Amino acid sequence: MSAEVINGRDLAQEIRLELKDEVSKMIQEEGVTPHLTVVLVGDNPASKSYVKGKEKAAKEVGISSSLVELPETTSEEELLNLIHKLNEDKTVNGILVQLPLPNHIREQKVIEMINPNKDVDGFHPVNIGRMMLGEDTFLPCTPYGIITMLKSRNISIEGKHAVVIGRSNIVGKPVGQLLLNENATVTYCHSRTANLKEFTTKADILIVAIGKPNVVTAEDIKDGAVVIDVGINRLETGKLTGDVDFDSAADKASFITPVPKGVGPMTIAMLLKNTIKAAKGLEK
Ligand code: GUN
Repeated sequence: MSAEVINGRDLAQEIRLELKDEVSKMIQEEGVTPHLTVVLVGDNPASKSYVKGKEKAAKEVGISSSLVELPETTSEEELLNLIHKLNEDKTVNGILVQLPLPNHIREQKVIEMINPNKDVDGFHPVNIGRMMLGEDTFLPCTPYGIITMLKSRNISIEGKHAVVIGRSNIVGKPVGQLLLNENATVTYCHSRTANLKEFTTKADILIVAIGKPNVVTAEDIKDGAVVIDVGINRLETGKLTGDVDFDSAADKASFITPVPKGVGPMTIAMLLKNTIKAAKGLEK
């Protein structure tokens, strides 16, 4: 293996320590404890486990959090009413509705109900617009975590060719935008892209957010590329794996992120950062 591994678990831990200091200063100097409210609808086991991880991390840095658990049968109207109440509640700084929601609830409707100034996921169209304009805002946590990982290793982005595989609203689209904001030349690839390899082999920075295990291998990447694996796939054996075949790709890449201990922990660290930002208020 020649690539340097960017360990997201260690970096997230360092960030949480910094955030812990920041929160204790806020408490001491301003008497403000940031508060995050997480809303979970239904019994999706993966969602339950993610939410637990978010609450645990919040507690560790001194952010207070509450979890509202609603049954699968909750109507869209009931959920929208709850969000309205949380928007009005001055003690709540950040609101996170865990996705996916049950099929009978329109996700976009729910996201758009959240007050953009409490939208710590950065999913509200107002915040997506602010991000596109390069304004100060809540950046979506996974893309924000990816940029933070690149910067932590002083990996230059400006002028580089970044290729993003995946075009989801949560990861693919916004990470491409953030790389563009950092002056990269960005190419988006997706499930309908013809000759994917033609693009991936030209990438200086390759972001892989496909959602299928081991799709990208050494032959798909350029020598010395930076490879960021956003996939979290559970194999039948129970083992977690990314979208990239780590062992082969690591022989060719200059930097690579593993799964687990890669992008995942960074997503949660950025959520905490956004919650503190929400408690401080966005720049006007
Ligand atoms: N489901 C999967 N990832 C996320 C995320 O980053 N935020 C929310 N709210 N739900 C998710």
